[in-house]
Amino acid sequence: MISKPKGTRDIYGREAKIWKYVEELIDATMDKYNYTYMRTPVFEESELYHRGVGESTDIVTKETYDFMDRGERHMTLRPEGTAGVVRSFIENKMYGDNLPIKVYYNGPMYRYERPQAGRYREFTQFGVEVLGSNDPMVDAEVISIAVNIYSMLGLENIKVNINSLGDTESRDRYREALINYFKPHINELCSDCQERLLKNPLRILDCKVDADNELLINAPTTIDYLNEESKKRFEDVCSYLDILSIKYEVNPKIVRGLDYYNHTVFEVEADIEGFGSQNVIGAGGRYNGLVNQIGGPETACMGFATGLDRLVLALEKEEIKLPINEGTDLFLMYVNEDEKKYALYLAQELRMAGFIVDTEYTGRSLKAQFKQADRLNSRFSAVLNSEDLDNNEIKIKNNKTKKEAVISLDTLIYYLDENLNAGENEFGDDADKFLREHDKSCDGDCCCGDNDDDCSCGNCHCH
Ligand code: HAM
Repeated sequence: MISKPKGTRDIYGREAKIWKYVEELIDATMDKYNYTYMRTPVFEESELYHRGVGESTDIVTKETYDFMDRGERHMTLRPEGTAGVVRSFIENKMYGDNLPIKVYYNGPMYRYERPQAGRYREFTQFGVEVLGSNDPMVDAEVISIAVNIYSMLGLENIKVNINSLGDTESRDRYREALINYFKPHINELCSDCQERLLKNPLRILDCKVDADNELLINAPTTIDYLNEESKKRFEDVCSYLDILSIKYEVNPKIVRGLDYYNHTVFEVEADIEGFGSQNVIGAGGRYNGLVNQIGGPETACMGFATGLDRLVLALEKEEIKLPINEGTDLFLMYVNEDEKKYALYLAQELRMAGFIVDTEYTGRSLKAQFKQADRLNSRFSAVLNSEDLDNNEIKIKNNKTKKEAVISLDTLIYYLDENLNAGENEFGDDADKFLREHDKSCDGDCCCGDNDDDCSCGNCHCH
């Protein structure tokens, strides 16, 4: 048997329905914020990630899926979405357009990590990027998008941690302070961190090996090295978050594992018992230098991404009931070939009218078809019996109340509409009442009195 690659997942059945619901909610929400959907390639030239995400990050040094294509070009499966969006912004000269550009994306990312619950080698990120504004209001809006989406999904137990790395001057001062702090203890650090000390000491702070090392826990924090301007900017972000009633905690330990950040950085944790160590469901920050670094003009940017795999896991752990459709409206059953042909035709008609309809495809006995209707959680089922069909009738059963009714085929759509939308089966127990209220058949004489062939009263089915 061929198995799926390590660290990848098959998403199907109920879980796939949850994904679809989450993705539709994201699309609808992003429309409201007026962010445009964007797709960039799943692979890019390797150099983009080396220059963009950073030479000293774990993502680039240890986790990328690199390959040489048949034209001997170095390619990398994207480990994240921001660098690709920035490349596209520059290549398509979007900086000439009305700024800011507000985009979102949703797609697979690849990192060669050690798989565990919530951490995969192929995972899906939904992310947003705002390119071309340095207003702290944008930082607050981006953080609020993340929080609002989690909250619309019913995820209440989350914690927003925010921090500021400051501008280049503040970051340089902080970098200096970290080097001075760690240098005397270099031998107490793991071999990777010893290398990171001069290359990029910030990366020591999110080292997975040294995470519990006292040295890291007591290291200097960014906040103490912010210059006045950066401090004021961070205060503005916080005050805008207050206006939006977003609860957050300033956590000076948040530095993020990618090199491109400055000023605001944030992480959203799922505060859920038993969720495991991979509890950061979304994260992001400001990256004012990246566009320039990749060859474009100075552009202030802010964004975040959330791992949909982790988000769906959180929804499941919290047992959040989402309004996902878990059944069909009608299951059509038949025995002989003529009835089957009618089932094929009727299923199509009803689907086009907006109903969720299924039928039999494997030659089951009638008894087994009833069981199949139950398995599919069908709200109604109908046996297409040749005799009934000759009389223009159909026997329909409400699978919840178990009541049966024989109705005219002409009224089937109305019958389903009324009963499905009425929720608690308004007419199901009283088919006669339903038929009286919906008797739109006529015996030749048009019920509106207008007896010609192009009667357009809309009340009867005689034309
Ligand atoms: P990141 O923190 O590397 O940031 O990833 C963002 C989110 O992707 C994480 O919080 C997590 O939910 C999910 N994620 C990351 N790695 C994995 C994995 N191996 N398995 C499952 N889920 C994972 C970024 O990628 C930045 N591009 C975010 C950003 C956008 N910053 C500014 N704009």
